Amino acid sequence: MKFFVDTADTNDIRELAEAGLVDGVTTNPSLIHKAGRDFLEVVAEICTITPGPVSAEVVALDHDGMMREAEILRKIADNVAVKVPLTIDGLKTCKALTDDGTMVNVTLCFSANQALLAAKAGATFVSPFVGRHDDVGLDGMGLISDIRLIYDNYDFATEILVASVRHPIHVLESAKLGADVMTAPPAVIRQLVKHPLTDKGIEGFLADWAKSGQKIG
Ligand code: E4P
Repeated sequence: MKFFVDTADTNDIRELAEAGLVDGVTTNPSLIHKAGRDFLEVVAEICTITPGPVSAEVVALDHDGMMREAEILRKIADNVAVKVPLTIDGLKTCKALTDDGTMVNVTLCFSANQALLAAKAGATFVSPFVGRHDDVGLDGMGLISDIRLIYDNYDFATEILVASVRHPIHVLESAKLGADVMTAPPAVIRQLVKHPLTDKGIEGFLADWAKSGQKIG
């Protein structure tokens, strides 16, 4: 499963990339606002940190407007994936862009039928939001399972990009269900490293090493 980082914070992206944990990056207008930096400038910088897909979202709601914004975004770098909402205009934009060789991430997916439409429109990625699904009492991971089944039934090439990941169990379940990608905030990716027995093990080894009186080098 590929790991994308869901942030516009370039320090976090750099640090995780150095540990080999960044296969791509997703941003959205809220994350850009949080970063407090110029949208085009920060996306350009992220594209230099990772060669993987970097999602940059349009804000227009009509097809012509989305195409105008996509033109600007896709010129930033070859690894920009234009992010469009799961609406009819978003799907039209998805088809036009992917027909033209541009990667597209269809976002704000909340049903398996919507994911089916994204695949039919040729999306590179579909982003089902599991956390927001859970927030309203629905089964986020059940949605991923349904989409996996449907995509496998018809051999769709669209990659399932699990989004709105809030905790390590979302990551574990995504991997077990065979999601292609998951995108998580840096804090969730860092949580995956943690295990009390790892910490306890290091503590024990270091204590014994100190008693041995030896040094490396
Ligand atoms: C994905 O591309 C979105 O940017 C993101 O995962 C949304 O997460 P949230 O529901 O925690 O805002």
